[in-house]
Amino acid sequence: MCGIIGYVGEKSAPSILLDGLRRLEYRGYDSSGMAVLHDGVLEVRKCAGRIENLRKLVASSKIEGNTGISHTRWATHGEPTDSNAHPHFDQSGKLALVHNGVIENYQELRTELIELDHTFKSDTDSEVLAQLIGRYYAEEENSTSLAARLTDAIKKALSRVTGTYGIAIAHADIPGLIMGARLGSPLVLGLGENEHFLASDVSAMITHTREAIYLNDGDLVTIRKNAFEISALSGGKADYEISEVELAEDAAEIGDYPHYMLKEIHEQPQALRDAMRGRLSKEDATAMLGGLQMTSRELREVDRIILTGCGTASHAAMVGEYLLESLARIPTEVEISSEFRYRNIPTDKNTLQFVISQSGETLDSLAALREGKRKGCRVLGIVNGIASTIARESDGGVYMHAGIEIGVAATKTFTSQVTILTLLSLLLGRIRHLSTTDGLELIAELEKIPEKIRTILDGADRIKEVAQRFSATESMLFMGRQFNYPIALEAALKMKEISYIQASGHASGELKHGVIALVSKETPSVFIAPDDAVYEKNVSNIEEVKARKGPIIGITTEGKTGLERICDEVLYIPSAPPPLTPLLSIVPLQLLSYYIAAERGCDVDKPRNLAKSVTVE
Ligand code: M6R
Repeated sequence: MCGIIGYVGEKSAPSILLDGLRRLEYRGYDSSGMAVLHDGVLEVRKCAGRIENLRKLVASSKIEGNTGISHTRWATHGEPTDSNAHPHFDQSGKLALVHNGVIENYQELRTELIELDHTFKSDTDSEVLAQLIGRYYAEEENSTSLAARLTDAIKKALSRVTGTYGIAIAHADIPGLIMGARLGSPLVLGLGENEHFLASDVSAMITHTREAIYLNDGDLVTIRKNAFEISALSGGKADYEISEVELAEDAAEIGDYPHYMLKEIHEQPQALRDAMRGRLSKEDATAMLGGLQMTSRELREVDRIILTGCGTASHAAMVGEYLLESLARIPTEVEISSEFRYRNIPTDKNTLQFVISQSGETLDSLAALREGKRKGCRVLGIVNGIASTIARESDGGVYMHAGIEIGVAATKTFTSQVTILTLLSLLLGRIRHLSTTDGLELIAELEKIPEKIRTILDGADRIKEVAQRFSATESMLFMGRQFNYPIALEAALKMKEISYIQASGHASGELKHGVIALVSKETPSVFIAPDDAVYEKNVSNIEEVKARKGPIIGITTEGKTGLERICDEVLYIPSAPPPLTPLLSIVPLQLLSYYIAAERGCDVDKPRNLAKSVTVE
């Protein structure tokens, strides 16, 4: 949540900051701002709304300078207004700060500062941090230099803070210098020639440098044009290494698509191929996941798996639960990260925990990872964000290689996560009871999935027609059984987050235990009923809805007839073995929610109140 970028160098800071903010907009987009140092003055521009508003503001009211910090916000404390936009300043007006995270004890610190005659211009927790650092800076008179004085003030202030932060700070009295620190929120240092960057994510600086240092929690960093320094907030040295950034510069370009979400839905065949690339062995009829860093013997000893994640990742985990239990026969539980971190789930030495996360920065999932490690579990990641915090703190794992996902609604990363969980189930299954023939059959079917997705995408116009028919609805139900129960949940999440339709997902069998009360002529029900062992059970549930005059959209397998008689609309997916149907059935539902949202004129890629990366609790 929130994106920050700071720059020190020889170039014009405002344009670099604006470009970086545009690339970070997925992290939050309700207000933005920048402070640029010029002739000993920190000039600030900030406003509510999208980065485009800031761009217009900076164009109409120019600022210059080679040192600056900037921010795009997802509001936690205080409404998205001009005054709550970052940067925030200290009492002297000379220290500017941008912050990603939450200062939990801000109220207490604010009261203390108000008693010391500080006046606040915003309702944010972040301003408290700016004022506190500024206060300590003013008090530190015996430092050897202004930079040392600022360092001491930052350390002192942060030692009083409870919460999370990734911050960047500039001071009007210290030209050509930015300081930053992190705890629980990501911060990356970019190394350029005669320039350095500090940002929440490498994508913000990708057009300028390929060399980055991913800072660790507890790091304090100072950047100047020609130098940088990283130390521990607690004193002493910090460990770091320089990484080569692999992200393609144009990876975030939208091309000819009207929205990133549609582009990313269409990228699924490739994303799945990339998830499988080099990971399937026909010779051994298994999957090869070297990143797990576990021997076959160690994998053989695993007797329980816990899958943790949030939102879409938790739905992928639920598909994984069915896959691991049916293919590998390993007891598996799914726990959403925000619950796992506060539960006290018993684990033993043979419990293996996975944290599933697109961004690799979701705070609740990171906390679930740390809780698992604290309990002595081996915790592995299934992550898209290369070198993200979860990737770095895991004991091993599998990268998704799905490429950058910009649309807030997760699409290609969902199918990529399910693909990796299928590979994992194959690997663990082959170590246990799955035969060579079973393994080879699964591999052959899995390899056909990308092309099958392609055929669903080719039929998008038909899905668009169905979307147009139902776009005015205000509530929807999604139902599925077995492997497709999690797909009902995921489809409902897609629908509500981008079209603001009240949508809920249910196990079809639960219908008569309460949900059926919601069935009416105004509430369409979507049934995911591929040709599998529970098809007939789904049909009975569809009949129950039909009998109560509820409109029905059925999703079934090509060639399967019967639903046309009882459904108002039927969409088809290619045939596949039941464990692989979720990889297909979600695609028409992603398109359905996309087209409904587009038809309703919603901001598909940036839905209200949401952000792509949820780095606050
Ligand atoms: O980056 P993560 O996979 O950890 O994110 C988890 C959720 O915040 C995310 O899947 C969210 O639910 C999506 N916006 C849903 O489309």
